[in-house]
Amino acid sequence: MTKSPIKLPAPVFDDPKHHIRLYQGDCLELLALIPESSVDLIFADPPYFLSNGGITCHAGRMVSVNKGDWDKSKGPGANHEFNRAWLAACQRILKPNGSIWVSGTAHIIHSVGFAMQQLGFKLLNDVSWVKPNPPPNLSCRYFTHATETLIWAARDKKSRHTFNYKLMKETNRGKQMKSVWEIKPPETWEKRFGKHPTQKPVALLERILLASSNEGDLVLDPFSGSGTTALAALRTRRTAVGLELSYEYLTLTVQRLSSELVRVALSLTTIQFSLDPVSDPVDRSDRAPSASAQAQPRSMSIELKLVQQECRFHFIGRHNRAVIFSVLAPTLDDALQKFRSHGHSDSDALFIIKTETQIFLR
Ligand SMILES: C[S@@+](CC[C@H](N)C(=O)[O-])C[C@H]1O[C@@H](n2cnc3c(N)ncnc32)[C@H](O)[C@@H]1O
Repeated sequence: MTKSPIKLPAPVFDDPKHHIRLYQGDCLELLALIPESSVDLIFADPPYFLSNGGITCHAGRMVSVNKGDWDKSKGPGANHEFNRAWLAACQRILKPNGSIWVSGTAHIIHSVGFAMQQLGFKLLNDVSWVKPNPPPNLSCRYFTHATETLIWAARDKKSRHTFNYKLMKETNRGKQMKSVWEIKPPETWEKRFGKHPTQKPVALLERILLASSNEGDLVLDPFSGSGTTALAALRTRRTAVGLELSYEYLTLTVQRLSSELVRVALSLTTIQFSLDPVSDPVDRSDRAPSASAQAQPRSMSIELKLVQQECRFHFIGRHNRAVIFSVLAPTLDDALQKFRSHGHSDSDALFIIKTETQIFLR
């Protein structure tokens, strides 16, 4: 009797329309169940093995570094073996021309680079992600840590990896993009459903996905955390698989993904209303009724109270016609400033959609 192959467990989240799936479990076990040569791009933000009683500065206060048990060091030898094991598992599932990005600080990035060399990956770039305004160094015995490294590597020496050179050049105001990227840490709106201690900014993931994959490609994140990779995939029209140990972080991911989907639906509703020439879409329940409203029979909208209002600008990319940047801002000028401060030039956007969301309570 032939043994049937072991299948992946049921996903904890499955959105077949956008092809986004999340699985709960140890990535070493889950990666082994994914078919070989099936993934276009991997982004991995593995444990940095930092949580060993050190101190850091958070919101101006001294706090101990404790991101979770998953981040505790097991010693340099065991940490390297772990890095080698999950990198080998990722290499098996990458397509021949697929590539992988791994982020890290000095605590692990040298081990990751060495393991990649041992496994025969083709090293493409090491990118310095520069954080403006990093937290101060409280001990005053080191330079302030202001960078993380991202290693980008193709599956093997023969790979012909995807690089959207033209798009990156245009994003960089017509100049070749360098391997030094200044991108802010996650903004407040990115943490509105809760915090992950090592959450990456959506802007960083969007750049990675736009640079090294194409629309419709399958992107996998073996240490998915709060789901930044899946969210960036949704926004740039890639498909995504996320693997994560913690239910808490998977719940956070689902909240982030759902809010993105609901926002698209709400935006469409707003556009529909504003195109209607007859009805008056603006609720004025908090103002004195106009003469015409007084003349009308009392309608339901008059009893509604506006409890929340937000204005968001979506920048649609010139090349991929997808949302390349989305921001809450009071005016278009403010939104444009934020767009530029994320490294975009005005010409990156083909057009901009403004959506106003208003929530009313009866
Ligand atoms: C550095 S964080 C990733 C953060 C993520 N990039 C984000 O933006 O939210 C690493 C994540 O990997 C998870 N993790 C650690 N070891 C794992 C393992 N063996 N398999 C799957 N997930 C793991 C942790 O729970 C943690 O959420």
